[in-house]
Amino acid sequence: MASIYDRPPIKKTIENDESVIYFTEKHLDVLKDTTRFQIFEGKTGSSKSIVGGIAAFHRIFKSPKEENQFAVVGPDTDSLERMIVDNKSSFYNIYKKVCIHKHSGTGGNRIEISTPTGIKKIYLVGCDNQGRFKKIIGQNIKGFILEEAHIVPESFIGELFTRLYRNNAWLYATMNAGLPDQLIYTAYFNKARPATKYEKDVPEYIWEELNRSKPDPNFRYWFFRFEDNPTLSDAQITELWGGHVPGSFEYNSKILARRGYVEGLLYARLLEKAPEIRLEDLKKENLDAAYIGIDIGHTDKTVFTLVAANSDAEKVYIIDSHEVKSKYEDQQDYTEIIKQYDEFVGQYWKDFGHLIMQVRIDRSNPLFKNQLRNNTRYRNISYQDSKSDKIALRITLKQQLLFQNRMVFSNTHGSAKLIQALKRVRSDGKDGHIDEDAPEIDYSDSLDYALEPITFRLSTKKL
Ligand SMILES: Nc1ncnc2c1ncn2[C@@H]1O[C@H](COP(=O)(O)OP(=O)(O)O)[C@@H](O)[C@H]1O
Ligand SMILES: [Mg+2]
Repeated sequence: MASIYDRPPIKKTIENDESVIYFTEKHLDVLKDTTRFQIFEGKTGSSKSIVGGIAAFHRIFKSPKEENQFAVVGPDTDSLERMIVDNKSSFYNIYKKVCIHKHSGTGGNRIEISTPTGIKKIYLVGCDNQGRFKKIIGQNIKGFILEEAHIVPESFIGELFTRLYRNNAWLYATMNAGLPDQLIYTAYFNKARPATKYEKDVPEYIWEELNRSKPDPNFRYWFFRFEDNPTLSDAQITELWGGHVPGSFEYNSKILARRGYVEGLLYARLLEKAPEIRLEDLKKENLDAAYIGIDIGHTDKTVFTLVAANSDAEKVYIIDSHEVKSKYEDQQDYTEIIKQYDEFVGQYWKDFGHLIMQVRIDRSNPLFKNQLRNNTRYRNISYQDSKSDKIALRITLKQQLLFQNRMVFSNTHGSAKLIQALKRVRSDGKDGHIDEDAPEIDYSDSLDYALEPITFRLSTKKL
């Protein structure tokens, strides 16, 4: 389906040597709107951060003399720097003549703006640094930009709102769709309403969510669509609409920006509700097959994950994961890894041995596969190279299983570690996850390899 909306015309542009910002009527209306709490929800790349950031900048620029401390809060400091300092279209770069970025000195990482009423400081605060967060929001901050609000932990949101109310401060919050029962919606953002003129921009499925709360005139809601980003061409938008199967998880998250289909931290919210089972309560007679995935580390660690599926591939049970510390791989010492593999399988052999159909091993390491096959005590299992499906497919499968409550975690220590690892996996903003030496990816990969043999059955299962 092609875009069903008209493209709003450009009403104004501002430019400097490096970039141009285009304003539609809606963007200009955002700049004029004086509501205290401004909420921008919608699709990735729909211009929420650019427009919200510029609107916040204008408020800061015009703020009275005694208001001189502000903050940008987001899930982590690195991505805030990428979004604001490195992005040529951010308020910081478009108003570079009056902005300066400082890494250190009083207040730490911050942008200083020269305004008619003096220097205004905007602190960059990532929630990955809880100490800094507490220190900064304890100051008299008069306005906040909250980036990626749907993946900021709830404890931070609670504290932020305490400060907002206490300091009589304002807020510009941007987010992709999160999960419907997140505190940020139920306690705050569902109270927001669009201006009458933009009611029609808000999809029916979002109206249903907003209507769960009584409107509060202090909250303004804006829904942003691809059509609201003037730098996306009609062809690109058509391609986005046509690029995913309607009804699929990706269509719901990326194209519709429907709550419940989360982007950002790829699994964290979904994992909060993941079902758990005590290993001794798992009914072995209902299980159909078991699989092991092995992600073999080069310089990083090696992880084994054992999963089992019930007949019909209706549910998959995470039995256990085991991590081999990196000191062994540094010496390319497979003997130790194989020893630990045998211990890992040995402890489950009595209950699951007859079900184990296949072991899938990271295909980038054929040498290890042969070593394992020849030296393990468990030689009658089939050892295969992973196919290594596209990352996007692997992400969607795990999200789908979690969303449908079909991934069940046992109470083993290894399952708990796998959950912790998956909670940390971050979206790269496109179709993948951030991989650069991230230790959680070893866990995630080993799970993917274990699921590989039944991926098709799992993803096409009719419920
Ligand atoms: N009004 C605009 N003028 C110029 N470029 C824009 C505008 N809106 C968005 N962009 C471009 O599109 C990119 C994505 O927009 P952004 O605001 O970061 O999306 P979102 O926050 O909705 O995911 C920006 O980095 C910028 O390059
Ligand atoms: Mg953004």
